[in-house]
Amino acid sequence: MAFTFFFRDSQTLELLVEAAVPALRGQAFIHVWDAGCACGAEPFTLAILLREQMSSFLFRNVRIHATDIDETFAAQVASGVFAEQEVKRIPGRLLERYFQPAGRPGHFQVVEEIRERVRFERHDLLSLEPIRHELSMIVCKNVLLHFEEREREEVLRMFGEALRPGGLLALEHTQKMPGPLADLFEQVAPHAQVFRKLRTAHRHAPHVGQAAPAPRRHGAHARAGP
Ligand SMILES: C[S@@+](CC[C@H](N)C(=O)[O-])C[C@H]1O[C@@H](n2cnc3c(N)ncnc32)[C@H](O)[C@@H]1O
Repeated sequence: MAFTFFFRDSQTLELLVEAAVPALRGQAFIHVWDAGCACGAEPFTLAILLREQMSSFLFRNVRIHATDIDETFAAQVASGVFAEQEVKRIPGRLLERYFQPAGRPGHFQVVEEIRERVRFERHDLLSLEPIRHELSMIVCKNVLLHFEEREREEVLRMFGEALRPGGLLALEHTQKMPGPLADLFEQVAPHAQVFRKLRTAHRHAPHVGQAAPAPRRHGAHARAGP
């Protein structure tokens, strides 16, 4: 069982949402990637924080692509059902607003408005294939630390490719941006690992005379829009 919990490092997620929301107001399709989402506590936290800052109308434009290499999380993310023990860190007001009794003792279910914005998909970050492009935000916390330095750099470069210009990336506290990628992202605030994409990142610059590979789409689940 992967270690995760609701509102983990909420300071970073709150800062991410605060920095993102003004630009999101003008976007008809808001695609967010939570990479390495485990059982769903993190993508549901993110959805709740976004809903707190958005009207119900704008929130309907949000699609959180929650991915993990471990497919066993699919059922829990789809049901949004969590044991009382797992929801105890959620601030009371938010627990009351975004959770309901799950129909089995000692369990709560994320309300439909939040649940329907989050979709699980199996995805291996080391495939270096983004789940899609033109993403508004990527959250990847407590995953990259398990990778080798070269792999981390490749994955972060792939995130740079997948984000729309001005899109935001959130990492955990201890995850610094590698030096070679410093010209791709700017740090949004000195005390949090939240970065804004500066320009289009090219992971594989083609050699002279060689065509760039056509981007491949990963997975087959429905998209919220272009
Ligand atoms: C410690 S959990 C982090 C969960 C959540 N992001 C958080 O910070 O609370 C790490 C997750 O990364 C996933 N993971 C590990 N290697 C991965 C890979 N190559 N691609 C995608 N997910 C991976 C694990 O299955 C696990 O669910």
